Amino acid sequence: MLDCRAVKIAVVPGDGIGVDVTREAVKALEEASRRRSIPLEMTQFPWSADHYLKTGETIPRGAFEDLSANYDAIFMGAFGDPRVPDMKHGADILLGTRFQLDLYVNYRPVRCLDDRLSPLKNFGAKDIDFAVFRENTEGSYVGSGGNFKKGTPDEVAVQDDISTRKGVERIVRHAFEFAAGRGRRKVVMADKSNAMRFVGDLWQRTFAEVAREYTGIESSTLYIDALCMQLVKDPSQFEVIVTNNMFGDIVTDLAASLQGGLGMAASGNIHPGRVSMFEPVHGSAPKYAGTGTANPFGAILTMALLLDHLGRREEAASIEEAVASCVRERLCTKDVGGALTTAQAGDAVVEKLRRVE
Ligand code: NAD
Ligand code: IPM
Ligand code: MN
Repeated sequence: MLDCRAVKIAVVPGDGIGVDVTREAVKALEEASRRRSIPLEMTQFPWSADHYLKTGETIPRGAFEDLSANYDAIFMGAFGDPRVPDMKHGADILLGTRFQLDLYVNYRPVRCLDDRLSPLKNFGAKDIDFAVFRENTEGSYVGSGGNFKKGTPDEVAVQDDISTRKGVERIVRHAFEFAAGRGRRKVVMADKSNAMRFVGDLWQRTFAEVAREYTGIESSTLYIDALCMQLVKDPSQFEVIVTNNMFGDIVTDLAASLQGGLGMAASGNIHPGRVSMFEPVHGSAPKYAGTGTANPFGAILTMALLLDHLGRREEAASIEEAVASCVRERLCTKDVGGALTTAQAGDAVVEKLRRVE
């Protein structure tokens, strides 16, 4: 990335607490950039349930081409609104971005920033530090299927779970590359090949073949149900986990609990070398929208992932350190043991960033 031109970020706050936490994440990004003199240009987009209900438009025609041609990265808050029960807008905007921009890596780092955030009796911050790589463009999310005799007693519904050799190989390879590049020694692949034979067989063979190329890295497989059990029993055994779209979705909510809850969890939807999209793991939590109770740290840590992706390692690290020290000093919202509002917690991070040399 060239230093002389502005970094262009597309921001889509979305619905519910997505709006509340995005405001704080933007503040942190502005502060981190100001301190490092990074010229920044942020463009906000109104795509949300409100926008859909008012205009009938979820995401405009040509938006994906615009995002990939004219921005360096995308930040999204969250989508979901009880007035849109089928989540049509979320599917078009969120899943649309993942699929249309071919963001095949869903990177969900799991790091517990303070011992008191761990819900486990015998494990603290030093024991909970791993990364989940969720395949992000295939599986049961592709929208392949249909129904038959809908609304009758004989109704049939089919939702296909599709894995391709290319799709599995590129996410597995990415997990090994990450491990190799970050000094991690172990990669675990989680599937359900004991019940889902066809896709399971493809994942097993592909994983074994790719693993052979990475001789210094220990590889193993676990069934996804057993992985869930092991994550709670002893999370310190994990360094890198790779799994499919659906299992990755489920396991990262569980893993968020090991970090202090959904309000702490960050994620990146990445295609290496291309315009990528960053969003906290949590949803729009409609009942907390606008109440000032949402924890903005997951969204702020997501901004750090965005900066890291753009090669701004130092700025990313300064945000992570600022959040960690806020957590240590209980300058945070109630869900993680503090008494601050969403905006006050965001301000506390900005204040820490101001003090960084
Ligand atoms: P959710 O993540 O919105 O909330 C679940 C619970 O987690 C909340 O009730 C709250 O107790 C806690 N929580 C979540 N984020 C928090 C935060 N920042 N601070 C403090 N506590 C937080 O999940 P849900 O209730 O299952 O879904 C609500 C809506 O969000 C649905 O429409 C769902 O489809 C959507 N959703 C969207 C995304 C996304 O856009 N990325 C992700 C997950 C869910
Ligand atoms: C997530 C969310 C989404 C997903 C929903 C909103 C479609 O749960 O990002 O974890 O399942 O991927
Ligand atoms: Mn999820």
